[in-house]
Amino acid sequence: MYPDSPPPGLVIWLTGLSGAGKSTIAGALNHELGKAGIGCFVLDGDDIRSGLNSDLGFSAPDRMENVRRIAHVARLLSSRGQVVVVAAITPSQVTRALAKGIVGQMFREVFVDTPIAVCEARDPKGLYRKARSGALKAFTGVSDIYERPTSPDLVLCTHASSIAEETQKLLALISVQINSDTSASASTLSPTSD
Ligand SMILES: Nc1ncnc2c1ncn2[C@@H]1O[C@H](COP(=O)(O)OP(=O)(O)OP(=O)(O)O)[C@@H](O)[C@H]1O
Ligand SMILES: [Mg+2]
Repeated sequence: MYPDSPPPGLVIWLTGLSGAGKSTIAGALNHELGKAGIGCFVLDGDDIRSGLNSDLGFSAPDRMENVRRIAHVARLLSSRGQVVVVAAITPSQVTRALAKGIVGQMFREVFVDTPIAVCEARDPKGLYRKARSGALKAFTGVSDIYERPTSPDLVLCTHASSIAEETQKLLALISVQINSDTSASASTLSPTSD
């Protein structure tokens, strides 16, 4: 059976500094949704940049193109009923506006608001150390700007909450959003097989 219009999903777009916790939170949410039988797909900036977007660097036009491609993939997957979790720095208002414009009403902006001092202390990939030494150019928060979102759908403060608490807040956001979209409620929450 191929329904005329597949159930709409959602795109949870996690933005924040490197080391803020985007990938960690995306993984935890994916795990919880999987346990509930809800179709979820994580689009992680690192994965995308190592393959689909390996031709792109970190100039402003390349960052735009990086986000444009991710947003189109997210839109495709969400249009098939998936909850798509994007974990990508997405440093500027203009790149986030581009993503929102491509995804449309299924877009939810989540600001992973971790102070740069905390991110730098974590430095899970050693990137801050490299950026401070000058070995890494155009590094967001150090030598390139991060513009804070002005009206995100949700803010997660990872320096003040646990991963479990953050996951619960995201589940609440998803549930509220799905329940408020009456045409999508039943089908989006159903397990997906594709
Ligand atoms: N409450 C928390 N929520 C999320 N991450 C946390 C929290 N407390 C500590 N961390 C740690 O912070 C680090 C976050 O790294 P992570 O790779 O998720 O960041 P990121 O935002 O994806 O960075 P990048 O943009 O470089 O990919 C992990 O080592 C994680 O274990
Ligand atoms: Mg990451």
